[in-house]
Amino acid sequence: MAEAGGLFRTKPIEQLTGDAGTGEHALHRTLGPWSLVGLGIGAIIGAGLFSLTGIAAAEHAGPAVVISFAIAALGCAFAGMCYSELASMIPVSGSAYTYAYATMGEFVAWIIGWDLVLEYAVGAATVSVSWSKYVATLLQNFGVTLPPRLLHSPFETVQLADGTHTTGLVNLPAVLILCVISLLLMRGVRESARVNAVIVVVKVAVVLAVIGTGLFYVKAQNYVPFIPDNTGTFGEYGWSGIMRAAGVVFFAYIGFDAVSTAAQEVKNPQRTMMVGILGSLAICTVLYIAFAAVLTGLVRYDSMRGDAAPVATAIAQTPFPGLQTLVTLGVIAGFTTVMLVLLYGQSRVFYAMAQDRLLPRFFGAIHPTWRTPYRSNLFFMVFACLLGGVLPISQLGHMTSIGTLLAFIIVCAGVLILRRSHPHEARGYRTPAVPFVPLAGIVVCLAMMVSLDGQTWLRLVIWLAIGLAIYFGYSRAHSRVGREKAQEAVS
Ligand code: ALA
Repeated sequence: MAEAGGLFRTKPIEQLTGDAGTGEHALHRTLGPWSLVGLGIGAIIGAGLFSLTGIAAAEHAGPAVVISFAIAALGCAFAGMCYSELASMIPVSGSAYTYAYATMGEFVAWIIGWDLVLEYAVGAATVSVSWSKYVATLLQNFGVTLPPRLLHSPFETVQLADGTHTTGLVNLPAVLILCVISLLLMRGVRESARVNAVIVVVKVAVVLAVIGTGLFYVKAQNYVPFIPDNTGTFGEYGWSGIMRAAGVVFFAYIGFDAVSTAAQEVKNPQRTMMVGILGSLAICTVLYIAFAAVLTGLVRYDSMRGDAAPVATAIAQTPFPGLQTLVTLGVIAGFTTVMLVLLYGQSRVFYAMAQDRLLPRFFGAIHPTWRTPYRSNLFFMVFACLLGGVLPISQLGHMTSIGTLLAFIIVCAGVLILRRSHPHEARGYRTPAVPFVPLAGIVVCLAMMVSLDGQTWLRLVIWLAIGLAIYFGYSRAHSRVGREKAQEAVS
């Protein structure tokens, strides 16, 4: 398994924890449990909740969208427990990539590291497009109308002021926010974590405000039927609709795992990682289910078709429509932290891959003063801007979901493998009921992957094929582990 040239060569766990970066390549350990829960919530609550809840209810599940939220949460909880175990064993940067390197070998590690670009960088691009829409709406409330061509991708049709139709040019606000966040990240984690903490409070307050005020205006008849009859088409109401909606709202949970990419900057990571991952996931699950229940109680599900701003819709049903501007501001602020954490995670994954020499040293360079992998940040700033600027949100969102689900499946498999290969290794946290929990995680995530469309699958295959070309063209020959094993074989 561990031969020098093998695809399955693994990186010893001792080496992983040992070379977590020292001297000029060291990252600072500054994050405690609350920062980590904040980092998690900061990454989780965003475009998924604030843009997709109404659509998932209207088009797929009806009021039973609360069950969809619960199913998606279940898949995330299983994967989250597996993440926690691996993070407590291998507390270094790199997330699922690093775990895969220790368990399933270099090739799978490469696949997962490459795949995580879909979750983190493409995820950030997705949210930037939604952010841009909310900003444009807010400005419009104040009488400022941005040129429509500068708000849409070239793949979208827009209506100009004179009534004629044309295509979009570039989503400029999306590009701008991605640049601002990347620059902030380059300055360093501690400052970013502080900004994150403030915004997380605002974001949770917005969700609680909607739940707290909406609760008193819920109409019981809106919950009937709770599970609308299936129309005869898979995914349109009934239980297949609930599953399809679970696949859609899964996006809302993405981000809790980004906590694991911060492992190298966490104090006492063996315990803190579990608190960060499962704590943030649990808080968001409760908020989401309550939010979805209130929303579908306030507004009849079939009237929310295509409604990408369900928060505004919900508020409009209460006697406090004046809250709308305030809440929209909170939502806009909330989106920024999602992008912040996702782009943070992205740069750390590539940092870890560069440390292993599976990627050029460029991505592993640490800024002498800021102590951040600033070049990695810069690279992904450009990459995410290219995506967020020119692609429509649905394509970006589905790519993010499929990439993340694949990562979750690999992490669940990683726990199963490590329990066999390293049964006695110290674990700060142990996944309960192994093998049930990892296997259930694999099944639920796979079911959600299957509910996504063929185009998305095709794009995933193409993305992975590009990754394979890079692996066999560059990474395999440069791999540090590969070289070390080759030397061992010679001596
Ligand atoms: N979960 C994040 C969001 O919904 C990605 O925006």
